[in-house]
Amino acid sequence: MTIKITGTGSALPEKRVTNFDMAELVETSEEWIRERTGISERRIATKETVASLATQAGKAALDMAGCEASEVDLIITATCSPELLLPCCACQVQSAIGAENAVAFDLNAACSGFLFALNTAYAYLQTGLYKNALIIGGEVLSKLVDWTDRSTCVLFGDGAGAAFVEASEADELCENGRKAGIEGMVMSSDGSKGMVLSCAERGLSNPYSEASGEVNPYIYMDGQAVYKFATRQVPACINEALDKAGLTVEDVDMFLLHQANVRIIESVAKRLKSDISKFPMNLSRVGNMSSATIPVLLDELNRDGKLEKGSRLVLSGFGAGLTYGASILVWGA
Ligand code: ACO
Repeated sequence: MTIKITGTGSALPEKRVTNFDMAELVETSEEWIRERTGISERRIATKETVASLATQAGKAALDMAGCEASEVDLIITATCSPELLLPCCACQVQSAIGAENAVAFDLNAACSGFLFALNTAYAYLQTGLYKNALIIGGEVLSKLVDWTDRSTCVLFGDGAGAAFVEASEADELCENGRKAGIEGMVMSSDGSKGMVLSCAERGLSNPYSEASGEVNPYIYMDGQAVYKFATRQVPACINEALDKAGLTVEDVDMFLLHQANVRIIESVAKRLKSDISKFPMNLSRVGNMSSATIPVLLDELNRDGKLEKGSRLVLSGFGAGLTYGASILVWGA
């Protein structure tokens, strides 16, 4: 038994905010942002929510798969920026699309969230407990960003992406002889370095608590530490996943990396000794959308007809936690 992605979808807020717009808010320039990050513009929610974007992306994925909402078994939403702590975003999506037979829950692994959700769904489907899953990565990070801090506010964008995965027979051969489905995965966490990229929730406030002091409710990031972590760990975990599957970098057609920064992606390509043309990017248009980056990119490539049956993709996420991982997927839709 393996899984097949049979539908993808994505949703972005209407409002475009360019680097020129950012330069009106904080002391920065269009060139600084573009040259250091690869980002030219991002979408920022003005009325959209994580739940509304996730619902729109999820519906689009189900439509593409030709699946009725009532047939969905499992909904996992990966997010670190939900509007509500309770109920979870996945339950809001379940209600909005009418997936009354699904079990729904959220998962927070920051920028690795979609990848971890995909692997979690894979594990559930492998056991035979569920036959399909709607996996969504959605964020409105603009709520968590300090709009006076030029070192972070220029980096992020809002959006959601989704994939509908279905259990399928492991012996389905594509024309190129590859078997469709997941060929391997690696997931890792390093909580000891967690505070290099953090965002506080509210502190203790019950009548018995000791004063917890002021908390910074915005994203804090040690950019250089994150850069070093990503450029070391991402190629290492991709190589580990490939090794485990008995494959090499040359066997991969496309690497879909978390879209944090063009320099990180270029460095990973170099360390893997792979051609940068195999690393599609959309961050110049949408910025870093944390858990939404990989599924939005996947949906854009899918709708543009760039994913061929039998293509071998490596999906790799990395982010707060710290969390990181890679999955190898032969496209079978
Ligand atoms: N405009 C102009 N100057 C800026 C800006 C800005 N937006 N932001 C920071 N600077 C200044 C700094 O204040 C500093 O000035 P100083 O030398 O006078 O002190 C100078 O630019 C250099 O700052 P650095 O932080 O050293 O800049 P760096 O070259 O490292 O680039 C960046 C910063 C882009 C964040 C880089 O560290 C990076 O790519 N880090 C990876 C982290 C990342 O991509 N995070 C995304 C979110 S996390 C995730 O998704 C996993």
